[in-house]
Amino acid sequence: MVNHAMPLILGIESTCDETAAAVVVDGYRVLSNVIASQIDLHAKYQGVVPEIASRAHIENILPVIREAIHNANTSLDQLDAIAVAHRPGLIGSLLIGVTAAKTLAFALNKPLIAVDHVHAHLYSVVLETNIVPPMPAVGLVVSGGHTALYHLQDLTTVRLVGSTLDDAVGEAYDKVASILGLGYPGGPVIDRLAATGDPKAVPFPRSMLGRQSLDFSFSGLKTAVLYHVRGYQGRQRPVTSLSPQKIADVAASFQAASIDVLSRKLHRALSQTNAKSVIIGGGVSANRGLRLATAQFPVPVFFPLPAYCTDNAAMSAGLAHLAFLRRDFASLDLDAITYSRFRLT
Ligand code: KG4
Ligand code: ZN
Repeated sequence: MVNHAMPLILGIESTCDETAAAVVVDGYRVLSNVIASQIDLHAKYQGVVPEIASRAHIENILPVIREAIHNANTSLDQLDAIAVAHRPGLIGSLLIGVTAAKTLAFALNKPLIAVDHVHAHLYSVVLETNIVPPMPAVGLVVSGGHTALYHLQDLTTVRLVGSTLDDAVGEAYDKVASILGLGYPGGPVIDRLAATGDPKAVPFPRSMLGRQSLDFSFSGLKTAVLYHVRGYQGRQRPVTSLSPQKIADVAASFQAASIDVLSRKLHRALSQTNAKSVIIGGGVSANRGLRLATAQFPVPVFFPLPAYCTDNAAMSAGLAHLAFLRRDFASLDLDAITYSRFRLT
């Protein structure tokens, strides 16, 4: 058995549709990272069904934790703390991870650490790299549930400065993929198709660029794609009438519009601060268009390694390292909370 450095933290993640557990040491060395994906369960509904998600979490949580401990070549009694993403997310999903974490902390008499899932997405750039981006930084979390901009003074001092007023960008990717008959989740397939299409083929709208605001809106873009593909009132057109090239052109044009908005808002956030870097996390941070668009930014841009873009528990265990050093522990009556700790005031 490996003689581990301190602290050895088990992370648990069940905020949405992935049941995950990971063991991380020193806040960046990932000893195991287990994820039970529910994609197959939700695919036929083209999106996450909360009730199905929470039932699957119940089935998966113990095997996933066992596997994470086994893969890390450690044992429960060697852990220094149990961390859990207790917000934000779907309430039924959150409750499973929070209950498992509280039970383990109580049974093993180990400290419990509560983590904000969105905050953990920002921290994920540190995993394996052990690189802390220069601070202050602008943060962007883009996923199926979140699209928000942050100012970071350091990795623990985070302030929300803008967020979506309606759909998250990942949700728009999933809906557009559904409109185009491309399956679920939509992000990876649209990203792939976009490379073969013409991004200028359809001038889809870029919302909320006129004002100085750092907020986003993606529902208009999604509706514009729907109208473009299906035709306007009274001219319902099936998606099967579109050629593969036309579908690729729509995917490329949608991706161009969504990434254009994200990168322009990032520029705006940078111009309003003295930020020395940009940190991008969440499922959509895997997007090749976003990575290309930010390659020429005036400050360095940090992305997580591919394994840590989408939901995982390593990012929670990693972020918990900072709380562990501050002895910032949660009590055993920790609640699951549906909204993030970062809210606009
Ligand atoms: O972070 P995540 O696993 O879950 C949430 O917290 O929501 O993100 C999942 C989202 C999905 O909407 C998926 O379509 C999107 O991330 N996604 C992508 C890509 N890979 C995953 N979106 C755009 N481009 C990608 N390459
Ligand atoms: Zn997430």
